[in-house]
Amino acid sequence: MLYFLLYFNNYWIYYSNYSVTFWHMNLPNEQQAHDLIEKYSSSTQQHLYQVWAIMKYFAKKLWEDEHYWWLVGVLHDIDWDHIEKDGSKHMKEDFEKILAEIDAPDELLWDIRAHWFFLEWIEEEPDTLVRKYINAVDELSGFIWAYFRMIPSEDVMDIKVSSIKKKLKDKAFAAWVDREHTKNCETMLDIPLDAFIEDIKCALKESDREWKK
Ligand SMILES: [Fe+2]
Ligand SMILES: [Fe+2]
Repeated sequence: MLYFLLYFNNYWIYYSNYSVTFWHMNLPNEQQAHDLIEKYSSSTQQHLYQVWAIMKYFAKKLWEDEHYWWLVGVLHDIDWDHIEKDGSKHMKEDFEKILAEIDAPDELLWDIRAHWFFLEWIEEEPDTLVRKYINAVDELSGFIWAYFRMIPSEDVMDIKVSSIKKKLKDKAFAAWVDREHTKNCETMLDIPLDAFIEDIKCALKESDREWKK
């Protein structure tokens, strides 16, 4: 059996005949992320955990760094309740102070900030895979969840892609979801909306969390 352990650019890389595993150095662990959510997040918690599960799913699918991707997912709106959902304060001083509590590296802050790249104070562009995915997942997963809460089924796999697409045209439904950003999978990743919705369903189904409707 062939295997080796290598340190490169803040990553430990373990290679064997069967797998390649990456560990990023200096990253907050799961307990730290949970503690931060408990401390700063309330009504947004479920959204954070859903985006966590979905980002983790995609990282696994793409052979990317699962730990890093779920951190981007689970912390992307960590300041949202704390700033009382005031978009003009999102990912500014409070966000930096909160993430400093767990010594989050700058790289993580930059990648998270890219999920609102369209705001004037955000310099980070969605120009890497993890940034594109957080953009593709964020609004769309919120919309899918809003739709799922409305239907009687308790199984996310019962969500019909055609129904989601139809509901997206209904501007009065989940009006807080920016419809333009629900197409990020197509514009940023060149993945058809249908396929991306199916993946989000699978990610929620596969996650070991119970989603409270
Ligand atoms: Fe956000
Ligand atoms: Fe979000």
